[in-house]
Amino acid sequence: MDRTEPQNLEPRPDGRRLLDGSVHSYVLRSGRMTDAQRRALEIFGPDFLVEYREAELDITTLFAEHKPLILEIGFGMGQATWRIARDRPQFNYIGIEVHTPGVGRLIMDAKAAGLTNLKIIQHDAIEVLRSMIPPASLAGIHVFYPDPWPKKRHHKRRFMQDGVIELMAQKLVHEGYLYFVTDIEEYARFSKESLDRCALLHTPFESFAPYQEWRPETKFEHHAAHSGRGRFELLYTRI
Ligand SMILES: C[S@@+](CC[C@H](N)C(=O)[O-])C[C@H]1O[C@@H](n2cnc3c(N)ncnc32)[C@H](O)[C@@H]1O
Repeated sequence: MDRTEPQNLEPRPDGRRLLDGSVHSYVLRSGRMTDAQRRALEIFGPDFLVEYREAELDITTLFAEHKPLILEIGFGMGQATWRIARDRPQFNYIGIEVHTPGVGRLIMDAKAAGLTNLKIIQHDAIEVLRSMIPPASLAGIHVFYPDPWPKKRHHKRRFMQDGVIELMAQKLVHEGYLYFVTDIEEYARFSKESLDRCALLHTPFESFAPYQEWRPETKFEHHAAHSGRGRFELLYTRI
C-alpha cells in the first residue's frame, strides 16, 4: 500500500480509458500476509466475502437485517471500516478492496468485533459499482485517502474523475452522501472541480467540509498526520 509509482504507465496507444477497465486506479502489490490474516480469510471469509459477479446484488437479503447501505471504496487495512460499522450499527456496509492482506485484516477485526452488518468484495470498485450496485440504492459512499496519482500523465488513474463520480452519484439514494478525504490538497481541489461538475450532486460547503467527528482515523491518515500533511474533506449529497 505504498505510493511507489509503478513503471510503464504511459498512455496506451489505443487511448482506452479508465472506465474501459484497461487502466486501473490501483496497482496490485504482492504484499506479505500475516498468518493471522490468512487464517481469518480461510476460516471467516465465508461470513463476510461476497463474490464479484456481473449481476445486481439483492441488497434486501444480503445482510441479517435490512438497513440503509454504505459503500466504502479502497478500505486499505480496514482500520476505519470496522470501527464505523461497529459505532454506527444503524447502517449496513460493503467494503471494497483489491489488496488481499487488507481483506484478511478486515475480516480478522470484523470477526473479533462480532459484526454482522459488514460485507466485503475483493474486486475493482469501478466494476462493482457498474455491475453489482443497483441504481439509487446507497445511503452513502466513503472514499478515504484514495491513491493520489500525483503525476499529470497518471491523472487518468485517479478514482475521483468525472465518469466515476457520475457512476457513484447514480448509485446514491435521494440525499445519500458521498464523503471523500485526502491529505493531498491538489487532489482535493481536482476532485472538488469534478464533483461540482456533476449535476446530480450538491454540497452546502463553499470550500472543504469540516471534519466529520464520527469518522475514525484511517491508516493512511495516521501516516499523513505524522508526516505533517493536512486533511481535506469533501461532502456532497445526491439531489
Ligand atoms: C492509499 S490507500 C488508502 C487506504 C485506506 N482508505 C486508508 O485511508 O488507509 C488506497 C487503497 O485503495 C485501493 N484501491 C484503489 N483503487 C481501487 C479500486 N478501483 N477498487 C478497489 N480498491 C481500490 C488500493 O488497493 C489501496 O489499498
